Amino acid sequence: MSVRRLHTEQPTEAFAFNPENLAWAKRTIAKYPPGKQASAVIPVLWRAQEQNDNWVSKPVIEYVANMLGMAYIRVLEVATFYTMFQLQPVGRIAHVQVCGTTPCMLRGAEALKDVCRHRIHHDQHHLSGDGNFSWEEVECLGACVNAPMVQIFKDTYEDLTPATLEKLIDDLAAGRKVKAGPQINRHLASPEGGLTTLTDPSLYEGQREFTRVEPPPPAEAPPKT
Ligand code: FES
Repeated sequence: MSVRRLHTEQPTEAFAFNPENLAWAKRTIAKYPPGKQASAVIPVLWRAQEQNDNWVSKPVIEYVANMLGMAYIRVLEVATFYTMFQLQPVGRIAHVQVCGTTPCMLRGAEALKDVCRHRIHHDQHHLSGDGNFSWEEVECLGACVNAPMVQIFKDTYEDLTPATLEKLIDDLAAGRKVKAGPQINRHLASPEGGLTTLTDPSLYEGQREFTRVEPPPPAEAPPKT
């Protein structure tokens, strides 16, 4: 993972939530006890990122810090720690985060990075020629059982091959609808090829009788008179 710091080129204008996001932020902050509004920093910063073309600029950090009564450095710490926050402009259509941690690496993440190098830009954190795509390698995104995978904004795309990642990029570029989750014929994290255990339908229809194998609990002693 590369060093995470503020982008060298920052907007000169201040940032402010639009009315819809401002109302949402007030409702979100109100969920926390008085004096604990700083706990809302991650959802509020995420919302600000979405409004700011999906990246966190210095004015965004200052705005969120002022809103939550936090020192700027505290919000900067959050923004630079989590890879869910982008610190430089990202692709208009997609910022592809490729998981490069061990399970994904063993299942082909390097080939997915080659697709990104070839289709988007040779180097991560750079925009494609048309400005529509960017990519980066990140650490585990919590979908290891469906490795290798990528995350694009809020969605994950799993069980990828170089060919299916190429198709995903093609579909996104053409504005076609794409399906998040596994890109093979499996439901969520269920086994590839269907269930291998608990497959007897009678288990689910109340037709099976089960025999107790352990001894019953001892009878309660009668109350003393
Ligand atoms: S190792 Fe890739 S999602 Fe966990």
